[in-house]
Amino acid sequence: MPVPTATYRELHLLPSILSADFAHLGDDIDRVMDAGVRIIHCDVMDGHFVPNLTMGPALVGSIAPAIHARGGLLSVHLMIESPEKFVDDFAAAGADVISVHAEACPMLYHAVQMIQKLGVGAGVAINPGTPVSAIREVAHLVDMVLVMTVNPGFGGQKLIPAALKKVPEIRKMIREDAAIELDGGVNRENIRAVAEAGADWIVAGSAVFGADDPGAEARLLQRLMAGD
Ligand code: DX5
Ligand code: ZN
Repeated sequence: MPVPTATYRELHLLPSILSADFAHLGDDIDRVMDAGVRIIHCDVMDGHFVPNLTMGPALVGSIAPAIHARGGLLSVHLMIESPEKFVDDFAAAGADVISVHAEACPMLYHAVQMIQKLGVGAGVAINPGTPVSAIREVAHLVDMVLVMTVNPGFGGQKLIPAALKKVPEIRKMIREDAAIELDGGVNRENIRAVAEAGADWIVAGSAVFGADDPGAEARLLQRLMAGD
């Protein structure tokens, strides 16, 4: 479903289901949504762009209806080669925002246009080693920029603080109503600093789903994020 424009600039915690219990995925998602979460982050990996394999459109399609029924959204992060081949499948499965990596797209402008033509939000992601200049030519077009604060591939890594410095530079380049999503290594200790660095959407995988009570942890992280 279309993302309400205002949602992009709201501060949101996005639990990444990469660290959820796949045998009880629906329950894990319910727990965090009961805690006030509105956007779920889905990490798609192909074993080529990153050295790990995760989920595909079928899994996204199986969780999307329940998330949408509760007024929630899905942000799908494609860490795959040739992502253009799959964007229509993920849009059909129920993705609301689809992000492709600048490093994986020689025709990045085209990829962003393809996603937007499908009626979903278009995000462009950059790795910690990729300079902001890599997205300069699409910055005015995208609905979201995803800044990796770890090297993509695995949950549970340590945040790379230098990546946060990219945020002010990106903010100057993008539309006023576009989001900046920060992804990787976020936990209780650093979530406020990540929000203060200028993020709109903050992903947390292991911090949420590695906790004994993911609902309570999501509640706490949302409070800390907002500085309450
Ligand atoms: C890493 C993924 C992240 C990951 C974050 O490649 O893009 O979204 O799930 O996990 P944590 O929060 O554990 O670093
Ligand atoms: Zn991610």
